[in-house]
Amino acid sequence: MGYHPGWKVLLSPIVPLPVPRLAWITRGATWNWDGQHKPFAEAGTDVLSIASLLPGYVSYFVADPVALKELVSSRTRFVKPIEHYGILSHFGGNIIVSEGQEWKKHRTPVQRSFSEHNNRMVWTESINVALGLFKSEEWSGREVVRINHVIDITLPMALFVIGIAGFGRRVSWAEDTVIAPGHQMTFKEAISIVTEHLVQTVLIPRWALRIVPQWRKIGIAFEEANAYMHEMIRLRREAVVKEERHDLFTGLLEATEKDPGAGNERLSDSELIGNIFVFLVAGHETTAHTLAFALGLLAIYQDEQENIYNHIKQTLSDGRLPTYEDMPKLTYPLAVLNETLRLYPPGLTFMKQSVEDTTLPLATPYKGQHEIVVPARTLFNAAIAGLHYNPKYWEDPYAFKPARFLDPNWPRDCFIPFSSGARSCIGRRFFENEAIALLTMIMSRYKVELTPEVRDRWAHLDDIVERREKIINPTVSLTLVPKALPLLFVRR
Ligand code: HEM
Ligand SMILES: *[C@@H]1O[C@H](CO)[C@@H](O)[C@H](O)[C@H]1NC(C)=O
Repeated sequence: MGYHPGWKVLLSPIVPLPVPRLAWITRGATWNWDGQHKPFAEAGTDVLSIASLLPGYVSYFVADPVALKELVSSRTRFVKPIEHYGILSHFGGNIIVSEGQEWKKHRTPVQRSFSEHNNRMVWTESINVALGLFKSEEWSGREVVRINHVIDITLPMALFVIGIAGFGRRVSWAEDTVIAPGHQMTFKEAISIVTEHLVQTVLIPRWALRIVPQWRKIGIAFEEANAYMHEMIRLRREAVVKEERHDLFTGLLEATEKDPGAGNERLSDSELIGNIFVFLVAGHETTAHTLAFALGLLAIYQDEQENIYNHIKQTLSDGRLPTYEDMPKLTYPLAVLNETLRLYPPGLTFMKQSVEDTTLPLATPYKGQHEIVVPARTLFNAAIAGLHYNPKYWEDPYAFKPARFLDPNWPRDCFIPFSSGARSCIGRRFFENEAIALLTMIMSRYKVELTPEVRDRWAHLDDIVERREKIINPTVSLTLVPKALPLLFVRR
């Protein structure tokens, strides 16, 4: 590693273990969030080395935009080390845990299913989900609605949108009590349990889910979801009258039937299901938590909430519902979401590995060196938060200033919540449509406020960033999760 500054530890932080931080032994489980850019600033470089004995890895933690750009764009020199994501493959072969030719086989049909039609569907269904929320028992007719934890609404909202736009199944605020014949739970229950316990479904082997009593329900939900999907495949294949549908499931189902041409392989049924499952893993919490962070930030920054409200009022002048055609005009809501993703990127890292001995160029040289020497099989972790708070590229990085994204010269290479390049997030447009629609609907009808307890508890802190850090204070799990945050929604 050429004595490049960094961390020397006994246990590699790349293996995600829920461990505390102990000097020379571990970096703790939150290393890819702690201090954001501060560890880099202290070391005087935007790339930190990580040397570990167990397992013995040579790895780098990268917050340098030039190095990151090279890592995501030079696909022959740097690949996705799928053995580090291996556990995600127990959903069946899928786009996330594949590389090379195998990845292309998934990416092409998956890309096709995230179509313009699907984007429109995500938009329309998100508006319906918001209307359903406002009409629900807890909300309708109330001037003030208190939510004990913001994710109590954002997780169901994201689930309902993926339910219909992803699986082609309508799940909603109303209880779905009919258990289909031959099943032990409803579709909604199965999918809710699987998504709520993604950490367990991802980390615990299937046989253990079956045996350990506390995990049995998760195991059953997982098998039930699987069974529902096999049924959906069968029903759609057998249907005499084929409905025109634009959900992701239908898009992928086509890829299992049609000859993909050009030497491409067809997707199998289990790969279809594998991909649909990983959409939940990759898309559900990330979307829900981003919305939760955005609502929390807007409750803290009331002036920003007025800005977004005024923008929405001007864009939808007669108070009408936003249409899909309005989406490109709703720039302020997108700027709020981008600024939220900059400050709280839900997927804190992604990995790459060098296939050959090579070098990596740097924007910020270290001791006069403009590149680092990289042996084959070196691992890299993107320091997404490190880059997003890097003061060389972001003015006043801790400030919440959505308008920075409205400046046409915002630093695009320094914003990578969705990764970048060929393997960047395929669900970005899905997310943007959903989140803009939901945020616009909520902001146009409600004012979001902190509860008096939360406000008073931190009122002694004069600095708004310090206050925000106490209030939002996320924990690190598979994604960045907002701390229990109660909010008030006050009818406008
Ligand atoms: C705020 C929301 C989201 C964030 C921050 C996010 C972030 C990311 C990141 C960082 C990656 C790259 C992972 C890696 O290289 O290891 C990724 C990939 C991916 N995301 Fe997202 N994502 C979001 C929403 C979604 C949604 C809504 C879906 C699906 C409905 C989705 C599906 C995927 C898939 C399938 C991949 C793998 C693409 C490939 O390997 O070719 N994501 N996402
Ligand atoms: C938000 O970020 C995306 C990249 O994720 C970019 O394409 C878009 O232009 C940005 N827009 C605004 C208004 O911030």
